[in-house]
Amino acid sequence: MSQDKIITIERHIIEGERAHPGASGSFSGLLRDLTLAFKLIWREVSKAGLVDILGTLGRENIHGDDVKKLDIFAHETIYKAMDHGGHLCVMASEENEDVLSIPDHYPTGKYVLIYDPLDGSSNIDANITIGTIFSLYRRITPSGPGSIDDCLQPGYKQIAAGYAMYGSSTMIVYTTGDGVHGFTLDPGIGEFLLSHENIRIPKKGKIYSVNEGNYHRWSEGMKKYIQYLCEEDPSTDRPYSARYVGSLVGDIQRTLLYGGIFMYPADIKHPGGKLRLMYEGNPMAMLIEQAGGRASDGVTRILDIQPKSLHERTPLFLGSGEDVMTAEQFLQGKREL
Ligand code: AHG
Ligand code: MN
Ligand code: MN
Repeated sequence: MSQDKIITIERHIIEGERAHPGASGSFSGLLRDLTLAFKLIWREVSKAGLVDILGTLGRENIHGDDVKKLDIFAHETIYKAMDHGGHLCVMASEENEDVLSIPDHYPTGKYVLIYDPLDGSSNIDANITIGTIFSLYRRITPSGPGSIDDCLQPGYKQIAAGYAMYGSSTMIVYTTGDGVHGFTLDPGIGEFLLSHENIRIPKKGKIYSVNEGNYHRWSEGMKKYIQYLCEEDPSTDRPYSARYVGSLVGDIQRTLLYGGIFMYPADIKHPGGKLRLMYEGNPMAMLIEQAGGRASDGVTRILDIQPKSLHERTPLFLGSGEDVMTAEQFLQGKREL
């Protein structure tokens, strides 16, 4: 996707904000601070193999996942980059059980940041793509320190969502509700430059992405859908190809650009799904919908789910509209092989 314009992400944010009359400029400042945090994390990730930050801290986070040192570094880096800018009233991180308050000596603002500081942690030691996922909401409490109420908002209330992807190149992909745009880091100048303007997901793909190791834990409908995708029928591009990175950011980036479907269904071990609604489901669902795709838990639109707790999980079916609708028909028992 060639770009004839050289536009930094900061310039893109400012121009985008001008399109929103009454925007205070605080939003631009917020995304600029977040971009700085991504550069600091990228610097650590890019030397992970050289510095003794590999290996786990030997303890588990609240989800029972092994915590890797880079998880904590990313968690703290984002908090410290965002806590003093005066744009936020509260934050929530996948690595912290409770909400994260803004220190008393800093001003508070009208936005809420919810983030997964390091997504794909199990891939760190293998130098496989990992990322950071973020969601932004407007506060709903009137003033003062933000609270859990400001965080437990349905995904359709997001005002922005996106991710940083630390891969063969480092990218930021984000939306503020006016389409999805990708920026690639030019390490030579330390700037993220517009490289993928207005990403649109194909209406139908030829790739499915799921951890098939869970096959025997799935519902009958889910098993039938995968069997359907693997049948020989060139007229419907079947069999599909299977691709699974094991980092949500990497799997979603490929799905956005190539089309197809990413799934993390409920199963016997994860009856409510494994991925987190607030930190992974909502931001990725906003991106997929803004790119013209579809995002559900197999029945309900992800962005319509009213969260009940900060770390609740949800099944995820994200991707090309036709593919997600076909999956929903099998999952709801409305379609047979
Ligand atoms: P995190 O590293 O933030 O815990 O996220 C890991 C998630 C997500 O990135 C990925 O899609 C999924 O875990 C992979 O899970 P499995 O290893 O169970 O397939
Ligand atoms: Mn994650
Ligand atoms: Mn994580």
